[in-house]
Amino acid sequence: MSFSMKYPKCLKKTQAEVRDLIGKKGFVNEDDVQGLTYLKAVIKETFKLQPTAPLLVPRETFGKCNIDGYNVPAKTLVFVNSWAIGKNLETWENPEVFSPERFIGCSIDYKGLHYELVPFGAGRRICLGMRMGVATVELSLANLLYNFDWEMLIGMNKEDLDFEAIPGITAYKKKCSYPYS
Ligand code: HEM
Repeated sequence: MSFSMKYPKCLKKTQAEVRDLIGKKGFVNEDDVQGLTYLKAVIKETFKLQPTAPLLVPRETFGKCNIDGYNVPAKTLVFVNSWAIGKNLETWENPEVFSPERFIGCSIDYKGLHYELVPFGAGRRICLGMRMGVATVELSLANLLYNFDWEMLIGMNKEDLDFEAIPGITAYKKKCSYPYS
């Protein structure tokens, strides 16, 4: 929702897609969501730029190994920086720019098979609730955009939206964007 407010063209495009598909039905269900290609791309781009668990869960190496010339001993604690992976210039063009379009016609997904995008992690420790998490986010966003028109509060600008996060295993917004709280 924050990215939608910051990029109103994207908000309008997502909303148009949902409303065109659903018409006057009154609500969006799980089956409908499968037809929302742009909304899914918006969510992917959000996962890429603002992953919920920026450092995944810590790992420990089984045995010693060598990575890019560095000797890594066994039982080394490893943090995988999912946040930085989403901003890697070798993978993504203009990675810091919010651009859901990059995912249209792109095979990269977040289900743990593409290491360019790991908002749910990968391997044995991959998020067990990924499908539930994705379904919840997709359904909520689709219904919020279908039923309501969104705009900034009077006196508030896009520049006032603060994306800074509180450090921790999961990233929460540091400041609520509502100016009167
Ligand atoms: C959009 C929502 C969610 C996101 C972005 C998310 C993200 C993550 C991430 C990044 C990890 C660490 C994976 C790794 O280190 O490889 C994780 C682990 C986990 N998640 Fe989620 N998650 C979400 C929703 C959920 C839900 C709804 C549930 C349960 C119903 C859940 C249950 C778990 C569990 C149990 C683990 C630990 C897996 C393990 O360490 O073996 N998650 N999640």
